Amino acid sequence: MQVTGEPTAQAFGGTRAAATFRPSGPRVSWRYPMYIRTVEDARTLARRRLPRAVFDYLDGAAEGERTMRANLAALDALEFRPRMAATRGSDPAPLGRTVIGTPVSLPVLLSPVGSSRFMHTGGDVAGVRAAGAAGTIFTLSTVSGHTIGEVAAAASGPAWFQLYFFGGRRGAEQLVDRARAAGYRAIVVTVDTQSPGPRERELALGLSPPIEVNLHTVRKMARQVAVRPRWLAAAARDRFRFGFANVANLGDPDAPMSAAEALIFWQSAPASWEDFAWIRDRFGGPVIAKGILTGDDAKRAVDAGASAIIVSNHGGRQLDRAPAALPALAEVLAAVGPDVEVLVDGGFRRGSDVVAALALGARAVMIGRPWAYGLAAAGEAGIASVLDVYRTGIARTLRLLGCPSLDDLDRDFVRLPAGWQAPSALRGR
Ligand SMILES: Cc1cc2nc3c(=O)[nH]c(=O)nc-3n(C[C@H](O)[C@H](O)[C@H](O)COP(=O)(O)O)c2cc1C
Repeated sequence: MQVTGEPTAQAFGGTRAAATFRPSGPRVSWRYPMYIRTVEDARTLARRRLPRAVFDYLDGAAEGERTMRANLAALDALEFRPRMAATRGSDPAPLGRTVIGTPVSLPVLLSPVGSSRFMHTGGDVAGVRAAGAAGTIFTLSTVSGHTIGEVAAAASGPAWFQLYFFGGRRGAEQLVDRARAAGYRAIVVTVDTQSPGPRERELALGLSPPIEVNLHTVRKMARQVAVRPRWLAAAARDRFRFGFANVANLGDPDAPMSAAEALIFWQSAPASWEDFAWIRDRFGGPVIAKGILTGDDAKRAVDAGASAIIVSNHGGRQLDRAPAALPALAEVLAAVGPDVEVLVDGGFRRGSDVVAALALGARAVMIGRPWAYGLAAAGEAGIASVLDVYRTGIARTLRLLGCPSLDDLDRDFVRLPAGWQAPSALRGR
C-alpha cells in the first residue's frame, strides 16, 4: 500500500498532511479510481475489494431504500446564500470546536458501524486510530468484531461507546461498566433498532452478520469470495473473526452468551426512555440519544436525561420512509433550543454537506458508510483519506461562502426548502 501527499488537498487541508490513498500494484485499471478524492471513489474501491454480500451489507438500506435516497435528496434541495468578497487572506479557517466538552479539530465524527471487521481486518481498531490522527471522535458499535478493550488500547483520541441492549438489561450493564473502565467518554444509546432493519439486499443473499463460517455460509459465499482472493486471504489470516466480540462473552464467564442468544434478549428488551437515568448514573458521564427524528422525541430524550441528540435514521437502514436527516435536524433544533447539542448523520458525503448542517445549527456531523468505504478500500490509510476529503471540502466551502470560521456559520447562509420545520416542533416556542 502506498500513501502519497497531494499538494492541492493540503492547501485547505488544515493541520495534517493529506494522506491520499493510491492502490498498490503495478497497474490500476482505468475503470477504478487511483486516489480517494471523493467519498464515491472510496465506495468504488470498496465495491472492488469486497465480496458482494459484504459490500451489500455495508452499502444497502431498508426495503426500497427510500429513506437512504431521501437523505441525499434533502441535501440536494438545500441552497447556500454566500457572502461574496467577504474573506481576506489565504489561511484556511480553523475547523476545531468542542463537542459535548471534548475538543475536536474536525467537526466530522465517526458513527458506529457494526461488523466493520467483516470489511477489513483492521476494523474498529483502524477506525479509532484514523479518528485520533484526524483529531476527531470515534464511536464503537456494540456489535464490533473487536472488544471494547482492544479498541480503547488502540485509541489516540477520544472515543464513545454505542450501546445496544444485547443480553437485555443485565448485558447492557456489563457493557456500560466495561466502557467506563476502558475510558470511553460517552455512551451513545441507539433508540431506532427495536429489531434488525429489513435490508432486502441482505435478505436476497441470505447473508448478514454475525456470519459463522460453516458449510452453509461457505457454500453461499464461495463464488463471491473466489473473485476476491485478497479479501479471503486477509480474513483467513485473521481467523475469520466475523462474530460480535463484545456480546459473545456477556453473562457468566463460564457460561458465555452466544450472539444468537444475545440477539433474542436485544429484541425482547430494547432500550427505552426509562433506561437513560440508570445508564447515566452507572456510567457517570454523558449519555447521547441516537436515532431521533422528531422534535417531540428530542424533548423526550432530554427529559429522560440525554445530554445530547444525534438526529439519525440509521442511514436509512431501519424504518424505510423515516424522515430524511436534514429536515429532521431542522425540526429537532427548533424543538430543543440552543442549550442542547445536536449532531446529525445520514448521507453526508462532502464537506459542503457538512457545512450546510453546521449552518443549520448542528454541533457536528457524523458519517457511517463513508469511513467504512475508506476502511474497506485501504484500511486505516483509506479512512484517513476519506477524513481528508471532508477536511478539505469544509475549508474550501467556508471560503467560497465568505465565512471566516465555523463559529460564524449561521442560518442566513442557507435557504431552507418550504415545509422543513414540522408544526409540532414549533408548538413549544
Ligand atoms: C454497515 C453499517 C453498520 C451499522 N451499525 C450500526 C450499529 O451497530 N449501531 C448504530 O447505532 N448504528 C449503526 N449504523 C448506522 C450508522 O451509525 C449511521 O447512523 C449511518 O451509517 C449514517 O448514515 P451514512 O452511512 O449515510 O453516513 C450502521 C451503518 C452501517 C452502514
